[in-house]
Amino acid sequence: MSERLEDIAAAMVADGKGLLAADESSGTIKKRFDVIGVESTADSRRDYREMMFRAKEAMTRYISGVILYDETIRQKAADGTPLVDIIKATGAIPGIKVDAGAKPLAGYPGDTITEGLDGLRERLADYYTLGARFAKWRAVIDIDVAKGVPSATSIGSNAHALARYAALCQEAGIVPIVEPEVLMDGAHDIGTCYEISKATLTKLYTELYAARVVLEGTILKPNMVLAGKKSGNTSSPEEVAEKTIKLFRETVPAAIGGIAFLSGGQSDEEATANLNAINAIGPHPWKLTFSYGRALQAAPQKAWSGKAANVAAAQAAFAHRAQMNHLAALGKWQPELEQAA
Ligand code: 13P
Repeated sequence: MSERLEDIAAAMVADGKGLLAADESSGTIKKRFDVIGVESTADSRRDYREMMFRAKEAMTRYISGVILYDETIRQKAADGTPLVDIIKATGAIPGIKVDAGAKPLAGYPGDTITEGLDGLRERLADYYTLGARFAKWRAVIDIDVAKGVPSATSIGSNAHALARYAALCQEAGIVPIVEPEVLMDGAHDIGTCYEISKATLTKLYTELYAARVVLEGTILKPNMVLAGKKSGNTSSPEEVAEKTIKLFRETVPAAIGGIAFLSGGQSDEEATANLNAINAIGPHPWKLTFSYGRALQAAPQKAWSGKAANVAAAQAAFAHRAQMNHLAALGKWQPELEQAA
């Protein structure tokens, strides 16, 4: 495959394909395993992820790339094959999460800043050798309007860090996924999500230009425009689509390689329905697909529940969600298809 950044980015958003975000840190995957009653060990994490990477139908037909965690990119399958080789054999591209997580922003209670720039150039060189051709950095913007969260300082600091990260990735021959996640956890309405997301994306692209990042060799991983979970309101897919596309038309350059959404706490079907509605009102200047963690993995995780005997059922559950999101990326999903399974 071509090693040009813009070609890698194009392959990541190839028609009807999207990304599997399997880059949960050890702390996060433990929380997911707690729910299904599985102890989180290096071997159980390996077995679980190997199950997904060996799901041939899902991987070859619907998944363009996999975001890995540092432990996983170095791990071998039970039979000794590096997990990265199993992913590559399906035609999917291995990627790597390189941020060191969101930490409290000093002086700004409630705001966070994502860390991980120190030593990043050297780590990227290592990850390139291990096979990664794209990377991910997640900035976290919470909303609590009454408390002045997010501050302009938080939005600015996170956008600046994303730009420095993206420039270092491109220097290393790695496509940066830039992820400025405006959380859906708050009590805010959909209009507030739109306003905060607009301020965030405006600042992000100002910083990416200033850092001389080549936009064609980047992928944006944004939130959709949604009402906060604690607001008690769920917006219709049509409203989500209309507001999300309006936001992107105002703030996201047409030149970027593509857009791959996070699921952010939406239910599996909500994440699919909203992506479908977004693509159904196209054509748009960019490809819009999925880069889901929870919304792709919740069903297979439950089906697997840590038992080797459940591997086939878990792979089928993964294939189903991946296929539904594949259709949504093409604007061809229908709710009845969920029942059929
Ligand atoms: P979710 O789809 O579960 O939000 O995870 C995507 C991701 O990679 C967040 O960084």
